[in-house]
Amino acid sequence: MRTDHKLWGMGENGLILAGVLISVIFWLLEASNHVIFFADSDMFEALFAPTWHELWMRLTVVVAFMAFAFIASRIVKARRRAEDAANRALTEVDQVFETAADGMRIVDREFRVLRANETFANLVGLPKSKIIGRRCHEVFWGDRCDTTGCPLTRVLNGDLDVEYDADKVRPDGTSVPCIVSATPFRQPDGTIVGIVEDFKDISERKRAERDQQESGERLRELTAHLQSIREEERSRIAREIHDELGQVLTALSLDVRWLHKRLPAEQGELQEKTRSMGELITTTVNSVSRICSELRPAILDDVGLSAAIEWQAGEFTSRTGIACNIQTEPPEIKLSEELSVAIFRIFQETLTNIVRHAQASEVDVHLRLTPRDFFMRVSDDGVGMEATGAQKMDSFGLLGVKERVRGFGGELALCTGDKGGACLDIVIPTPAIAAGNKEAPALAGHAA
Ligand SMILES: Nc1ncnc2c1ncn2[C@@H]1O[C@H](COP(=O)(O)OP(=O)(O)OP(=O)(O)O)[C@@H](O)[C@H]1O
Ligand SMILES: [Mg+2]
Repeated sequence: MRTDHKLWGMGENGLILAGVLISVIFWLLEASNHVIFFADSDMFEALFAPTWHELWMRLTVVVAFMAFAFIASRIVKARRRAEDAANRALTEVDQVFETAADGMRIVDREFRVLRANETFANLVGLPKSKIIGRRCHEVFWGDRCDTTGCPLTRVLNGDLDVEYDADKVRPDGTSVPCIVSATPFRQPDGTIVGIVEDFKDISERKRAERDQQESGERLRELTAHLQSIREEERSRIAREIHDELGQVLTALSLDVRWLHKRLPAEQGELQEKTRSMGELITTTVNSVSRICSELRPAILDDVGLSAAIEWQAGEFTSRTGIACNIQTEPPEIKLSEELSVAIFRIFQETLTNIVRHAQASEVDVHLRLTPRDFFMRVSDDGVGMEATGAQKMDSFGLLGVKERVRGFGGELALCTGDKGGACLDIVIPTPAIAAGNKEAPALAGHAA
């Protein structure tokens, strides 16, 4: 909006013109005065050749008129410029408001909508005419609207910037997730006369987050499924090797022993051959049983988790020379098959990591089952995670551990152990233990 700036009905040029006109009229009147009243000169002389005294007086008055006209025109010009600048700023603000990517509205202290932009109108699905003048919550409803917890009252009470997430409901009943930020709307003197609200529609972001979460969950389910298939496959292979190969090797060993006994004493070379064949078969039987145990330790099914962990620790110590101290509370812990296998595999991965990365000489293992949860801590006295850098893009061991633990609703924590090396803690809550434990031996074991 633009107003014409005038002083006594005149613009800046009009004022200068008026100054000139008044000066000319004054000159004429003064000359006429000398011709008519004083009669001391003719008109030409009075106009163009006045006395020095007269000339000095007339020029002083003319300069005063012109100076006054000039100053008045400057004032008008300055006012016009200030108003132009204010109008330009207002237009720019209008444009920013109207073309903002976020829905925006301004409400007064009674929460009536004073103004709303096009994006806001589209967001709520109403024309502006049906928005302006209505109470804010009648247009876009949130669960804290019209209550003492309304964030807008905080703005009116002096909070400079209030931001919150809310599911806002449109008049047609559909809801839209938004990030709302509210700031005071002030008069030039600083008085708060309302609130400016900005609504960022985050439906797309929420949908993307949901999709990402869903695909993460599906991926986790797939990983768990693949792991259980892998375990089944390992068990099946272990069983087949044990049954098929084990029986054949036992029969072979008996036959070789039978042959060895029946060979005459003078057949020393043949006796030696059958003896070494017997030894070879015994070694093979041991290898087969070791492979079977590595594939699926029978001890895990037969005796329980703590015994299986102790057995695995013994194997580890005899293979690597690294001492392994185990502490179990209660002494015997039996969990569901699924959970036992998961914990056992996590333990195996942890030991493998210690051999590969830790340069440790001692490992402490702590297993604890309480009515609340199952806890396992494996710590070493090696160089520690920080020295080796646990965050590697191409390593999957700990990632697999994390996924296994999360599959049971548990938590994994990596930290520094008492002896300065790496420490891995896992906690599985009791509901997961009970759920995976159809006969509930875990809790029974604990109660014992
Ligand atoms: N006991 C440990 N002491 C020191 N660093 C460790 C220990 N355990 C793991 N790390 C560090 O954490 C990293 C990640 O371990 P993770 O088991 O995920 O991967 P990886 O063992 O390197 O490879 P893989 O995928 O074959 O298991 C390791 O590369 C190592 O730097
Ligand atoms: Mg590893």
